[in-house]
Amino acid sequence: MRPISNATLAWDGASIHWVGPASDLPARYREWERESADGCVVVPGLVDCHTHLAFGGWRAEEFELRILGRSYLEIAAAGGGILSTVERTRAASTAALAERARGHLAAMGRLGVTTIEAKSGYGLSLEQEIRLLRIYRDLAGGPQRLVPTLLAAHTVPPEYHDRREAYVDLVCDRIIPEVGRQGLARFCDAFVEEKAFSVEEGRRVLETGKRHGMRPKLHADQLTSCGGAELAADVGAASADHLERVSDVGIRRMREAGVVAVSLPLASLYLGMAPLPARRLIEAGVPVAVATDFNPGSAPSYHLPFAMTLACTLQRMTPAEVLLGATLIAARAIGLEGEVGSLEPGKSADFAVIEAESLEHWLYHLRDNACVRTVARGREIWRA
Ligand code: NIG
Ligand code: FE
Repeated sequence: MRPISNATLAWDGASIHWVGPASDLPARYREWERESADGCVVVPGLVDCHTHLAFGGWRAEEFELRILGRSYLEIAAAGGGILSTVERTRAASTAALAERARGHLAAMGRLGVTTIEAKSGYGLSLEQEIRLLRIYRDLAGGPQRLVPTLLAAHTVPPEYHDRREAYVDLVCDRIIPEVGRQGLARFCDAFVEEKAFSVEEGRRVLETGKRHGMRPKLHADQLTSCGGAELAADVGAASADHLERVSDVGIRRMREAGVVAVSLPLASLYLGMAPLPARRLIEAGVPVAVATDFNPGSAPSYHLPFAMTLACTLQRMTPAEVLLGATLIAARAIGLEGEVGSLEPGKSADFAVIEAESLEHWLYHLRDNACVRTVARGREIWRA
């Protein structure tokens, strides 16, 4: 991807026809209806490749506990964390969950986000996980592209507290096959962590997902270095996400297996952790995406442009690397690199018009919203 000054973008219906310097515009497009971008920067529609979009309630109380020194894992062990959102999600009506998620999608659209990956994982029973994925299926009829991921292996639900093996059986023997049968998820994710699932449990879940048509993805090496990146390579995952504590061996294995690293700088920031070693990953040849991880605990924000600014400052990625990470590399992390993520003929007409003099200026100047126009699948979904 390279910047073009004085560019013209030609699109018709839902797809891009031509892009290049205005002076090279082929004659056949010269009669088309024209609009000026008024000197703004036009970027591919942003791709948020890691969100936990549908959930009940918030967890502001834990925000304060963490400020006072309690850790994310301590809070989780005391029944807070993911489990408290599971309780609130189960108690919420389907209509309320969908309405809230729709509102978040609209807000993301105003920020220039046109493709969103959305995980289940706050239901943790057959009925409840399917309920969340059906909400995503219905929302996929909206203006943005939605990519659903099954995250039944997010944590062990309270009713299986002393029977974790039985929960993994439920996930593998019932939830995954049923989600596969109904075609409700494109990816299967697992949270591999000391207080969540072991590498061997994660492997079983992800291999089962593959047999039912879902590509693996992982929450890996977030709080402890526990072999998540290595597992991602073993199972041929599309991406390994978080990676704050990834090991050198993990990085090498990811490169060999072609696994995308998804950085989630908002989660690192909120949990007060050093971010993933983006420079080491990039220098080793691992592509690094940037996403929000939007969820009520570790990353209570869907603000992808802010996450991009943090990727620059905390992860020492250049603005150009970050833009690629929130577009084409993010698209690769969700298997959509042939359809979205860059402004190329044949791809979906998804783009955002950014009021800034350059890419660097956009990511450097943190303001309310620099995105003045968003087009998704050729349709304008936002104009300031
Ligand atoms: O990606 N790491 C696990 N899952 C989420 C957190 C979810 C939550 O705290 O509710 C994450 O950070
Ligand atoms: Fe996450």
